[in-house]
Amino acid sequence: MLLAKSTWPEIEAHLARSKTVVVPIGSNEQHGPTGLLGTDWMCPEIIAHSAHADGELLIAPTFAVGMAQHHLGFPGSISLRPTTMIAAIRDWTVSLAAHGFERIYFLNGHGGNVATIEAAFSEIYAEASYLGRPRGFALKLRNWWELPGVLRLCANLFPEGHGSHATPSEIAITQYAYPDAIKAANYAPRIAPTGPIREAADFRARYPDGRMGSDPGQASPEKGAEIVALAAKGLVEEVRAFATEPTPARS
Ligand code: NI
Repeated sequence: MLLAKSTWPEIEAHLARSKTVVVPIGSNEQHGPTGLLGTDWMCPEIIAHSAHADGELLIAPTFAVGMAQHHLGFPGSISLRPTTMIAAIRDWTVSLAAHGFERIYFLNGHGGNVATIEAAFSEIYAEASYLGRPRGFALKLRNWWELPGVLRLCANLFPEGHGSHATPSEIAITQYAYPDAIKAANYAPRIAPTGPIREAADFRARYPDGRMGSDPGQASPEKGAEIVALAAKGLVEEVRAFATEPTPARS
C-alpha cells in the first residue's frame, strides 16, 4: 500500500491491522557524470515500491532531501543541514506516531544521512523518555545495500570499481526503474579516486567529476533488476520481523 495513493479511511483501516510503516529516505545530490541527482532517494523508493507489491507493507512518501553538504559544489545538489534534517525527521515521525504508528522503518539510500538519522532517533527517544511515554514505540534504520545478501550480490556483479559514491549498483537500480533516463559520458580515470569527505570545495577538488572509487559505466538495467528483486525480498522479511518484534514485558 502506498500512503500517497490511499485515503484516510484506508489508512485508518490499515492501522487496525498493522502499526508499521516504511519511510524511504535519501538525498538529492550529484552522482558523477552519469548518475541522476535523485539516485539516493530513488533507490530506496524503487525497492520499497517494488516490495509493497506483496500487499503487506505500507510505504510513506519518500523523504527525498538529506544531509549532502559535501556535494554542494556540484549544480543541482540540495542539502538540509543536520539540525534541520533532525527536526524534519522528528516532525514526520511524531505525525505518524500521533495516528498510532508504533514501528517506523526508515529505508535509507545515502551514507551521509546515517549519523543524522541516528541523532534524530536519539532526540525522538529522549523526548519519549522525558515524557514517560509507554513502551512499544520503535524506530529502525536500514541502508538498502545492507539488506540480506545485497552487498554480496553487488560485489559479485561489480568485483572492481564499485566504490562508495556514484556506484554501479545504485546507478543500475535507477537504470532499471527509469530506462528513459540512462546517461552516458566519457570519464577518466576509469576508477575514481578515494579519500575523506569534508566540505564542498574540498570534495570537488578531490573528486572532480563527483565519483568516489567507482566505475559506474558497469551499470545495466538487468543488473539493477537483480539487485531490486533481492533487496525487495529482504525488505519484506525485515519489516515483517520488525512489525512482530514483541514489546518487552515489564519486570
Ligand atoms: Ni548514492
